[in-house]
Amino acid sequence: MTASIIDGKATAAMVVERVTLETARLISNTGIVPGIAVVIVGDDPASQVYVRSKGKRAHECGFHSLTHKLPEDTKEEALLSLIDELNQDDKIHGILVQLPLPEHIAEAKIIQAVSPDKDVDGFHFINVGKLGTGEIANAFVPCTPAGCMVLMRQALGKEDFSGLNAVVVGRSNIVGKPIANLLLAANATVTIAHSRTNDLPAITAAADILVAAVGRSEMIRADWVKPGAVVIDVGINRIAAPEKGEGKTRLVGDVAYEECAEVASAITPVPGGVGPMTIAMLMATTLTAACRKAGITPPKF
Ligand code: GUN
Repeated sequence: MTASIIDGKATAAMVVERVTLETARLISNTGIVPGIAVVIVGDDPASQVYVRSKGKRAHECGFHSLTHKLPEDTKEEALLSLIDELNQDDKIHGILVQLPLPEHIAEAKIIQAVSPDKDVDGFHFINVGKLGTGEIANAFVPCTPAGCMVLMRQALGKEDFSGLNAVVVGRSNIVGKPIANLLLAANATVTIAHSRTNDLPAITAAADILVAAVGRSEMIRADWVKPGAVVIDVGINRIAAPEKGEGKTRLVGDVAYEECAEVASAITPVPGGVGPMTIAMLMATTLTAACRKAGITPPKF
């Protein structure tokens, strides 16, 4: 079997197009312009790239978009005070504080300071709790897991995963745990595996849906994959690529793509799979936040 390639770039473009249309409709019906504030502290180059892309995409969608760039030595109190200001700002419906933060700032404290109604990252305890108790319609769901679900529904051609075994490799708060909860809410039978799991290949080989979110280059091999499985690779790892020239690098996922594509029925590539979906879903979530504030039922993505 050769897997079909799940095109995250094309799907993300469709999500952004729909967000743009629905935003224009919201503005013409209510005058409300969805607003997003992205906060970045310090000079981490990867974070700067992500934040620039988020701002660019927000403009494309027709949002009111603010980016706050704060220096590395920003005090925790100053960041908390900015968040408080954004919490009170009626023009802002979504707040995202780019992680990681510098070490002298307590990440957990910052995450909990964002108003749950504007927490488009879905990291606040209130939103984590809603997702964990099945209150998804009222929650904000983290963007990468939400994007993975869109891709899985597309690959499987259905929304109800009853009878399917899903294995999530990785138990992070940002990806592994929320994906597991979303899969459970879609009626899949879910296993979360991680670095302390015994005989990982035997567990993954039982998965109809396999999600890799461990951050280890090409760890999932072909003989770990059940024939016909849907494979979602959340990993983005930069490795040396001497074949491209001295000092060159390339991006790979947590899945050994070429060999697993021979076994799976559908698979996400890296790059071009899950990655582009994250920002697209952030736009969808920000529109959702604005609709909820306006008392309008948000579009479903
Ligand atoms: N850094 C890497 N991924 C994320 C994310 O999903 N949200 C935020 N706020 N920061 C990140």
